[in-house]
Amino acid sequence: MADRILVTGGTGYIGSHTAVELIQKGFEVVIIDNLSNSYIDTLDGIEAITGVRPAFAQFDICDRARLQAFFEQYTDIRAVIHFAACKAVGESTQKPLMYYRNNLNSLMNLLDGMLQYHIPYIVFSSSCTVYGQPDVLPVTEQAPIKPATSPYGNTKQICEAILRDTVKANEGLAAIALRYFNPIGAHPSACIGELPIGVPNNLVPFITQTGIGLRPCLNVFGNDYNTPDGTNIRDYINVVDLAKAHVIAIERMLRHKSKANFEIFNLGTGRGVSVLEMIQSFERVSGRKLNYKITGRRPGDTEQVWADPTYANQELGWTAESSLDETMLSAWKWEQHYQQLHPERK
Ligand code: NAD
Ligand code: UFG
Repeated sequence: MADRILVTGGTGYIGSHTAVELIQKGFEVVIIDNLSNSYIDTLDGIEAITGVRPAFAQFDICDRARLQAFFEQYTDIRAVIHFAACKAVGESTQKPLMYYRNNLNSLMNLLDGMLQYHIPYIVFSSSCTVYGQPDVLPVTEQAPIKPATSPYGNTKQICEAILRDTVKANEGLAAIALRYFNPIGAHPSACIGELPIGVPNNLVPFITQTGIGLRPCLNVFGNDYNTPDGTNIRDYINVVDLAKAHVIAIERMLRHKSKANFEIFNLGTGRGVSVLEMIQSFERVSGRKLNYKITGRRPGDTEQVWADPTYANQELGWTAESSLDETMLSAWKWEQHYQQLHPERK
């Protein structure tokens, strides 16, 4: 029988792509999502790609009683991938309690349930935001964790600490924290992709929405940084490549290959790309000129960060394979597909 994996936040952006990769590798997937930042239609997209509609339970993981009932229903879960969280850096500075409540309580409830129902493995969505502005680039897993620059970033630091302490106290439990750099792009089928609600905060959806005419102009937040072209540098990683790393992490734990009960991996390409280079990539793959202007810096932005993914390359046997243009093209195809489905959107 196939191993059953619980994917929390599985109708969200990274969760849905990971559900596809798990199903394609023969896993049985059950999703919990409260649809606070995703749409139920995502299940149609997953089914269109894989031919399988994953089991789905709609509720808030902060609801302990409901989570308990869920674990009573699904008694054969072998591992958990925990994506469900609030994730907007800017919003977290406005609504810190919402971020601390949701991101910390959901993880603690899950861990309680896992201990009670003897589910031994968890993969956790962490972020390169835990490094802040690193002193040394590219950044390795050994880089010091600096004080968080936002409540969101702080929740990721605290969640990692909760995992470390809980695993230490419970021999039967193991965890892998994956520190993502900047996930972008969509499934090549264009059946699923990133679906920001309202005006996007992130660069790539803003670029593609501007390209398609939904937004008049992209604001480039500052060109006076200490970088070659003056704009910020990030490590943009293809979401399908990222999803595949989760499957490898799950298999690593199921097959007892972990080197420790708590492991951490950077997931990035190892390549730093500036905002202007992202615009050039879009113009290349779409054949369109992008309307943009340079504006002031966005508060809280890190100047430049990119990964040293050597540890993940060697230990997981995983590499981010897709090129930037390929990934940008997938985002553009998804934007066009979605616009056709929802021409009324604003
Ligand atoms: P997303 O918002 O698309 O997906 C998260 C999903 O979790 C959503 O579908 C939302 O409805 C659900 N959710 C949130 N709180 C919940 C709760 N209490 N109970 C049930 N469902 C809940 O976000 P994403 O981009 O797919 O991110 C997934 C994870 O990866 C998050 O933990 C995020 O912090 C982390 N991460 C994301 C990025 C990024 O740039 N996208 C970078 C680093 C880390
Ligand atoms: N940018 C613009 N204009 C925009 C949007 C973004 O110039 O309209 C610039 C930003 O200033 C930054 C770069 O594009 O230099 C990337 O910005 P994003 O908002 O796309 O991504 P961030 O690096 O700020 O943060 C993202 C996620 C976080 C996550 C982090 C690291 O939003 O949740 O990557 O994984 F923690």
